[in-house]
Amino acid sequence: MIDTEEKILVDHVPQSHNVLTEVIMGLSRAQKSLPAKLLYDKKGSEIFEEICCLPSYYPTRTEFKILRDNAREMVELMGDGCLIIEPGSGSAEKVRILLKAMKSTPRYVPIEISREILLRTCRELIEEFPGLGLTPVCADFTDDLPLPLSVSSQPGKKVIFFPGSTIGNLHRDEARDFLKKASRLVGRGGGLLIGVDRKKDVDVLLRAYNDPEGVTAAFNHNLLERLNREIDASFVLENFRHEAIYNEELGRIEMHLLSLLPQLVRVSQTVFRFRQGETIHTENSYKYSVEEFVTLGEKAGLSFVRSWEDQDGLFSVYYFENR
Ligand code: TRP
Repeated sequence: MIDTEEKILVDHVPQSHNVLTEVIMGLSRAQKSLPAKLLYDKKGSEIFEEICCLPSYYPTRTEFKILRDNAREMVELMGDGCLIIEPGSGSAEKVRILLKAMKSTPRYVPIEISREILLRTCRELIEEFPGLGLTPVCADFTDDLPLPLSVSSQPGKKVIFFPGSTIGNLHRDEARDFLKKASRLVGRGGGLLIGVDRKKDVDVLLRAYNDPEGVTAAFNHNLLERLNREIDASFVLENFRHEAIYNEELGRIEMHLLSLLPQLVRVSQTVFRFRQGETIHTENSYKYSVEEFVTLGEKAGLSFVRSWEDQDGLFSVYYFENR
């Protein structure tokens, strides 16, 4: 077996003292919040994959279909044999569609915060795509994308693949900064293939984030469980209820954990007071119309090339270039 472990280039697994500092900062604000990226530990990432299969969670299957239906055209625009870089690659299911559609031997750089998931995925990819040029990077891509020289110095076209409407989890100005960074990273002539969820009927949105099976609730609760385990916090899970609302003005779904009673929670050495009904804001999912997203890309200095959508107009995949 190829020892992928040896080949991981940048190993920036988050340290628990950074987690503690971020958590204390977030819980000290008037509107309490927790960093959303903490949702994705091993268990959280597994629950998230379950969310992606839920009947009410339309984004995943819709994006898959858009990719499958248009993979050949996407790959032609991206350049067959280009270097695909995927921040937050997870189990890398979607990129396989592109890798399969390539005629030349593909090259792929997965960037993933969970070391375990990164390793498992790389092992699978090596079996599935013999000859694949694979450069795994274990890092938090929301830090300043530190691409190792062995990636940045690779010849040929570079394309960032950013599916799953993950950009919707950033605030608008952060999203624009991310697009700018992506543009700089791929350099002149490089590209960005990005999947983004669209504005739509509010009921459809709310159902996607309040599934009747309670999987999204479990995903949200796992964040508290993780803090209890990793930074010695004392959250009582039953005392918080998952809540997802649509903020019409800001065009985003907001995920919260609502305190069901007045309570005190200790996080390491610090105690936080919760009023009944007070919430911890855990995640946002911004929704963009096609016009809004194309404008955002252009504001970041990218040139819009084309976009694809499903027949119901639920989701879009965009291709931009740095020209
Ligand atoms: N990128 C996903 C989205 O915005 C993330 C997501 C889906 C999510 N469901 C969630 C994040 C539930 C937190 C909780 O749709």
